[in-house]
Amino acid sequence: MPEALPWEEEYGAAPATLGERLVSGGSDAVERAAEAALRPRRLDEFVGQQVVRNQLSLVLDAALARGTSPDHVLLSGPPGLGKTTLAMIIAAELGTSLRVTSGPAIAHAGDLAAVLSSLEEGEVLFIDEIHRLARPAEELLYVAMEDFRVDVVVGKGAGASAIPLSLPPFVAVGATTRAGLLPAPLRDRFGFTGHLDFYSNDELEKVLLRSSGLLDVPLTAEAAAEIASRSRGTPRIANRLLRRVRDWAQVRGDGRLDLAAARAALEVYEVDPVGLDRLDRSVLTALCTRFGGGPVGLTTLAVAVGEEPETVETVAEPFLVREGYMGRTPRGRVATRAAWEHLGLTPPDGASGTLWS
Ligand SMILES: Nc1ncnc2c1ncn2[C@@H]1O[C@H](COP(=O)(O)OP(=O)(O)OP(=O)(O)O)[C@@H](O)[C@H]1O
Ligand SMILES: [Mg+2]
Repeated sequence: MPEALPWEEEYGAAPATLGERLVSGGSDAVERAAEAALRPRRLDEFVGQQVVRNQLSLVLDAALARGTSPDHVLLSGPPGLGKTTLAMIIAAELGTSLRVTSGPAIAHAGDLAAVLSSLEEGEVLFIDEIHRLARPAEELLYVAMEDFRVDVVVGKGAGASAIPLSLPPFVAVGATTRAGLLPAPLRDRFGFTGHLDFYSNDELEKVLLRSSGLLDVPLTAEAAAEIASRSRGTPRIANRLLRRVRDWAQVRGDGRLDLAAARAALEVYEVDPVGLDRLDRSVLTALCTRFGGGPVGLTTLAVAVGEEPETVETVAEPFLVREGYMGRTPRGRVATRAAWEHLGLTPPDGASGTLWS
């Protein structure tokens, strides 16, 4: 297994974000260390995302051929689909180093100015969660990206003056899970925007087989397919479930990661055949059995499952809505026919293939 690159260690130490759920797209610090070992290093190791990969390779190859820096790159898409991985790949493909920062880590414009003024020619500056950059820092970034310049403010009040400091050409790579929150002027300064979408099961199988090779655990094709189908289109979740199946195989099984081991492990961890976990199922169960399929308000639904409305809204709902188990209407949340059927319940008369309201 290749050694961790310096920036991966740096990134691994960054403050943790998002939840501890087995099927959440987010990750924490411990997990990021495990992930670093599984990250593809080059564009041709990166599985799936054919469109973005193709576009990006053109952008990078053209820049390399010209001997200049490529346009700034914005990567958007849900958690765990490979934005950070691609940022690292961009630096590797350009044969340069990567500097890592993030929107929340930059409290003042001065913090960003310090990072920018220490960049070396051609370096890649990765700004994770760029939608969370504070406004003054954002404005500083516009100028830096466009004119390769920062205005360093000296003094205070009426006597303050701005000294322009020119920067070497660098490549900004921004990542965001919320492209819609990015102000248009910032979005416009990225010459290339790649949107990552959820992976197909076939692609996730490839991710899993690659990971099992790196982890040196033999994974059968059927087990890979089983894990892939419960991974919510997300490589991070696929790799996480793979580690849980490996645990099971080592402790309760015979070390082999086969279909039986995959099923048994995922049953222990309560990840069902379509990738729903306990929270998802309790939301659907409450919706169907207590509220007759809805519509019911978010707050009421959250109380019924003993969770905060925000948790239900941000953690469970997006996947349930995307997969067609639940709908959001002006009058509240509704269960679809698929939800009733998935829970093994009989849909009430009139519940259609679309929304039950
Ligand atoms: N295309 C891919 N091929 C193989 N593995 C992948 C791919 N995309 C992501 N992964 C794996 O998934 C893990 C998560 O990817 P990554 O950290 O790049 O996601 P992210 O989009 O940056 O997520 P976040 O929004 O939480 O920062 C990586 O450790 C990597 O091993
Ligand atoms: Mg990331």
